[in-house]
Amino acid sequence: MKFVVAIDGPAAAGKGTIAKAVAKHFNLPHLDTGLLYRGIGKKALAYSRTSYYPEVAKQLALDLKPSDLNPNELRTPEIAEAASKVAKITEVREVLLDFQRSFANQDGGAVLDGRDIGTVICPDADIKLFITASAEVRSYRRYKELKNNGHDVELESVLQDVVSRDKRDAERETSPLVIAKDAIKIDTSSLTIKDAVEVAISYLNEKYETAKLLK
Ligand code: CDP
Repeated sequence: MKFVVAIDGPAAAGKGTIAKAVAKHFNLPHLDTGLLYRGIGKKALAYSRTSYYPEVAKQLALDLKPSDLNPNELRTPEIAEAASKVAKITEVREVLLDFQRSFANQDGGAVLDGRDIGTVICPDADIKLFITASAEVRSYRRYKELKNNGHDVELESVLQDVVSRDKRDAERETSPLVIAKDAIKIDTSSLTIKDAVEVAISYLNEKYETAKLLK
């Protein structure tokens, strides 16, 4: 059987943690699609002032290699900002589309997390989750994560970054961050990681049984 799980949501809502846990639980491969945009964002920062011209950004996307996707090198506020700038560019999204769809369509299925998985990449996913939390809670989580990884950041500036990135992601013309009509919304504001994962898995268990019957 094939089981495709689409997980979307705004910055630092807990999508990544939930996606990893769900993938482990159902023994499915996982793709953090944010890393693709972060990888291109990192190249854009290093390249030139013209990085955000569509043709230039498209070439940066075409040049993306697996070795450009090391999460430890990509989780900085500067790269997150650059990622959301390249992510607005239609040509960049087009370059990444086939890879993401093939990943989702592999035998057995997969878990993908991002911003447009349930709406554009996998509109027919077996289950779609939309993970969210208040901007304050998300910023505080990101602040702690960055501090733990040795980044010298202020809570106030993390909040501003998160809010401006969400706005850019939600207002762009191509594949904006919107909740798919058939997505299940989970607000993790007052949930621990463990509770949030449990809630997600309980929704998925139900769908998994249905997918098994229909196979
Ligand atoms: O970890 P966080 O939620 O802060 O961000 P991320 O998932 O690593 O994504 C970084 C940026 O990539 C986002 O702000 C979006 O602009 C972009 N992105 C996107 O446009 N579409 C996706 N499927 C995934 C990420």
